[in-house]
Amino acid sequence: MNDLHPDLVRVLLTEEEIQTRVVEIAAEIDRDYAGVERIYLVGVLKGAFMFMADLARRLKTAHNVDFMAVSSYGAKGATAGEVRMILDLREPIAGEHVLIVEDIADSGKTLNYLINTLQSRNPASLRTAVFVRKERRSLPVQLDYLGFDIPDVWVVGYGLDFADRRRTLPFVAEMRQV
Ligand code: PRP
Repeated sequence: MNDLHPDLVRVLLTEEEIQTRVVEIAAEIDRDYAGVERIYLVGVLKGAFMFMADLARRLKTAHNVDFMAVSSYGAKGATAGEVRMILDLREPIAGEHVLIVEDIADSGKTLNYLINTLQSRNPASLRTAVFVRKERRSLPVQLDYLGFDIPDVWVVGYGLDFADRRRTLPFVAEMRQV
């Protein structure tokens, strides 16, 4: 791609690849939740807002959407970091079929925290749909639906940011390390 921004090294996932995969994941979810009255989609802000919007629009199964926001204390990756809640769900989820919608599983700490937190509220079921997973280590959590495995590089676009920049690109690209 000749017109790629100088901050970006290369495109990892094109808009078309992303949209095709989102349709596939939605179909998988529809199959798995056949007979369920509704799915309770929980998007994790900020990163998941694009994946959530696209996935939800492709689902045929009835669904609610709600959002949470969490933040990690300390460094990401190998270093220990605590997760804290910034924004909680508006409604109780007891008896609901909850599907956590996340943009990325990196260390897996955020998902682990969300699963533990939401499981304690007695949902009828709890699963995870994650847009990308970094290929670098085994994760402490199960990903029920996964869009793509990506290399362990700085990535931006489709909800993913670098210091809040490049989040709304319709594709995913590797960010240049400066
Ligand atoms: C990112 C991403 C995940 C989390 C994944 O959130 O959206 O929630 O990190 O990392 P982990 O698997 O190592 O826990 P971030 O804190 O950057 O917030 P944002 O979504 O608002 O950008």
